[in-house]
Amino acid sequence: MAVALIVAAGSGERLGAGRPKALVELAGRPLLAWSVETLSAIAAIEQIVVAMPAGASAPDGTVGVTGGASRSESVRHALEAADPAEVVLVHDAARPLLTGALAEEVLAALGEDPGAAAAIAAAPVTDTIKRAGRDGGTVIETLDRRELWAVQTPQVFRRAALARALDVESEMLAQASDDAWLIERAGGRVIVVPGSAENLKITTRVDLRLAELLLAERERGGA
Ligand code: CTP
Ligand code: MG
Repeated sequence: MAVALIVAAGSGERLGAGRPKALVELAGRPLLAWSVETLSAIAAIEQIVVAMPAGASAPDGTVGVTGGASRSESVRHALEAADPAEVVLVHDAARPLLTGALAEEVLAALGEDPGAAAAIAAAPVTDTIKRAGRDGGTVIETLDRRELWAVQTPQVFRRAALARALDVESEMLAQASDDAWLIERAGGRVIVVPGSAENLKITTRVDLRLAELLLAERERGGA
């Protein structure tokens, strides 16, 4: 069995809605409600723990904890409150278009590979990616796109590996833009599960509009 941790404690500065992003409405419901509904329907997930902004209450049927100063610190808070399941699925509330099929695929991928510490959803990169200085400037190299993946959530972990990876200083947690990196730097093997760019992350107003359109298409049975 597995537990799901949803991180929803960010402030949503880039969206600029004047309140935490997870509470902003998408097609009539808070962003967070979409992932909660999808993950609640998965038989293998026995509990959902949500890292919430301070003072906000967690959705019905979930366990709420207050988030931390960084995303991975929020994951750590949620993991500390979770039941002792051996498999932990971590998901960003900022990805409301998650499908149950993708979550099940990532869970299955880890289940089928006993030597892996984590399995992560990722979409093939479609842009050509070049490495240059931090502020632009001269190109250093052009990377081989066939080997590049735009990493998403869900990310599924063996609990012991995740707990170990998160047991580091806050500064290290703040550097992690995903939890799998913390596993990689500790030498753990992470496997990629090819997914779809449709599992997009809401960062700006444009993403919110795009998500509304994709959801409307799903409602019509088009996806
Ligand atoms: N998150 C969290 N705790 C934090 C920071 C982020 O739980 N201290 C969560 C967000 O709620 C989101 C996910 O991590 O679901 C991905 O983060 P991001 O997209 O950066 O969301 P925000 O931090 O809210 O947005 P911004 O960076 O624009 O402020
Ligand atoms: Mg952020």
